[in-house]
Amino acid sequence: MFRTRITEMLNIKYPIIGGTMMWISTPEFIAAISNAGGLGILASAIYQSKEEFAAAIDQILSLTDKPFAVNINLFPAMRAIDNDEYVDVLIEKGVRIVETSGHSAPEALCERFKGAGMTWIHKCVGIRYALKVQNMGADIVTVVGYENGGATGRLDICTLVLVPRVVDAVKLPVIGGGGVADGRGFLAVLSMGAEGVIIGTRLLATKEAPIHEDLKQALVNASELDTMLVMRSINSTHRVWANAAARKCLEVENGGGDLNEILSIVAGTNAKKMYDEGDLDAGILSCGQGVGLAHDIPTLQDLFDRIIEEASQKAGEIAAS
Ligand SMILES: Cc1cc2nc3c(=O)[nH]c(=O)nc-3n(C[C@H](O)[C@H](O)[C@H](O)COP(=O)(O)O)c2cc1C
Repeated sequence: MFRTRITEMLNIKYPIIGGTMMWISTPEFIAAISNAGGLGILASAIYQSKEEFAAAIDQILSLTDKPFAVNINLFPAMRAIDNDEYVDVLIEKGVRIVETSGHSAPEALCERFKGAGMTWIHKCVGIRYALKVQNMGADIVTVVGYENGGATGRLDICTLVLVPRVVDAVKLPVIGGGGVADGRGFLAVLSMGAEGVIIGTRLLATKEAPIHEDLKQALVNASELDTMLVMRSINSTHRVWANAAARKCLEVENGGGDLNEILSIVAGTNAKKMYDEGDLDAGILSCGQGVGLAHDIPTLQDLFDRIIEEASQKAGEIAAS
């Protein structure tokens, strides 16, 4: 059940994509997602050098024989990123699946993906971007609605409208997400014509997620009301967990604070401190409204199996009603 063009093209058991998560999408976590039947995506932006990045790919290859992907970050970053160098490594290591997110990939980069025979997935938040990358030769488009954790863009379209609109607009297979956290969300997104789902926030509360146990527990205790938007004033809107750092960020923005002040709050080093040491107010954590649907901390395998089982059961109940 739930075999789609996405499971065929990516050669995965379940049409479940583990969303790229900066600092969290490490080789161990990626391999665990792929071993559980989904598609893990390594965040290349974690790595400061070509050598470290190549070592991370070797590590994934030693941990799984299942397909995995690598994310090439096209969002503005705090440090200069040479994506061409990362793509050199992808080609050297024979990586088969690449995901881009952020702005549209430059033409030259896309040509390198295509030339190397990679399956290229682009993640975005609106029809216009999906059509653009379809014209540029993308193989799959991922769209995430406004309730998602992380970058929300400027269009503010919720998943329930965005997914069917994009499915109707493009010929490419679509992966949909933003708020998917259980079998009901999974089935809803597939019912709207997507052929796979992407899940980020819900994966934070799993045994394998490389973040502090106190942070996982805080997310289990959180509800759908505990997220907020920050960085809209600098054209980089993100949905994040509403902790002290996020509230401070918004306060600075509302007070007309300067860019450096905002960046000092949202810096990755602060977030890393929160992930590693469990200091819950140290930094910003991207977090979607689906956090209200996370009530426990299962293994990835248990979570994926449960999602598929629940979706199958619900589909049966609806058909029989
Ligand atoms: C903690 C966290 C970090 C994220 N970091 C990134 C990132 O670095 N790059 C990216 O393209 N998306 C990032 N995302 C977005 C996810 O890849 C995914 O698109 C999103 O989480 C899906 O929506 P959901 O959170 O409602 O499941 C992040 C999401 C979370 C929760």
